[in-house]
Amino acid sequence: MISAGPSLSIRSLSRHHSSPTGVDSFLEEYSAAYTFYGAGKVALRDGLAGLVEPGENVLIPAYVPDAVVEPFHELGLESRYYRVESSFAPNFVDVEQRIDANTAAIMSVNYFGFPQPGLEELHRLVDEYDCYHIDDNAHAPLSVDNGTLLGTRGHLGITSLWKLLPVPNGAVLFQNDAETIENFQPSPIAGVRDGLDVSDCQFIVKSVVQNLLDGNETIRDSLDAMFATEDDDTPAVGGPHERYEEGKRQMSRLTAHILEESTPDTIRTRRRTNYQTWQRLLASRDDLEFVYDSLPRGICPQAMPVRADEPQQFLTELQRAGAGGAYNWPRLSRSVLEDPAYEVATRLSREIVALPVHQHVDAAAIEDVGTQLRR
Ligand SMILES: Cc1ncc(COP(=O)(O)O)c(C=O)c1O
Repeated sequence: MISAGPSLSIRSLSRHHSSPTGVDSFLEEYSAAYTFYGAGKVALRDGLAGLVEPGENVLIPAYVPDAVVEPFHELGLESRYYRVESSFAPNFVDVEQRIDANTAAIMSVNYFGFPQPGLEELHRLVDEYDCYHIDDNAHAPLSVDNGTLLGTRGHLGITSLWKLLPVPNGAVLFQNDAETIENFQPSPIAGVRDGLDVSDCQFIVKSVVQNLLDGNETIRDSLDAMFATEDDDTPAVGGPHERYEEGKRQMSRLTAHILEESTPDTIRTRRRTNYQTWQRLLASRDDLEFVYDSLPRGICPQAMPVRADEPQQFLTELQRAGAGGAYNWPRLSRSVLEDPAYEVATRLSREIVALPVHQHVDAAAIEDVGTQLRR
């Protein structure tokens, strides 16, 4: 079965490279300053804390998961969703209507690992209104666009390592200019935990057992239930506020180890191959439309998103063919879903199915599923 995310193996826990090859060195190469966190939302809160005043507002795209507003609210900021186009570009007429002298920041999102369209126009508004640009790069820790790492193009940016690697938690705050570096107010949950703790051990045991039982869905489900304790910090269940609060932990020591042992080039190459394999196999289906026509150099896709005429039917087809890790994205906030102004975001959230391309999916497994799905 093709799973949604990569899994931890004993080999990755015991491997040692003689020279630094890992994600840490990669981040150092491409960014001015960065800090590790357990979750991207918490990184965002700390990054903004020294730059904003309660009562100001932040503009964010309507097409984002419901919990993304939580750090802004904790800082006393008003969050204002702006409309997006089907291409994921901001609807600039709408942005201009919502922006004002009290706007502290505008956020853009590099969806599914690809660069945010319309960035030049967005930068024009950021300059005009003298506010900060947040480069939300939760999906693309390894995507490099024309020599620039995504996440480093705003005044500050974030990236979620737990979406890329088989780790208990992990995210990065990028501070991309002198002002954000100078005003940085790290909270006690910035950085990496000193040692392994119970949740790391649970994560390892769960991963090892799941690897052993791969393919046995019934036992896997009961294991998931067994390990779903209050201490489990894998971002997954609960309401938006609860999920935000759960992320308030330092980055795990286990994550730091896996980062050192992971090779960005290998991960990116595998993900690109898997992406292109899905694209080749699904090209003949006229009920699916690819969200991106091409895969530019340097981009490390988080998933292969398609717009499906019948998304639920397609998900069932994928499940039956062995790709149970495919998913609808994202879970929008209720205020977006209930407001007809955000019709495009709501439609995208229904139509888009994200196909797993992670580094532990074998291209041959995708060939197998794709052959069954070909029309
Ligand atoms: C676009 C986007 N931004 C921010 C986040 C928050 O990242 P984290 O879960 O690491 O807090 C997510 C998480 O799903 C996301 O999809």
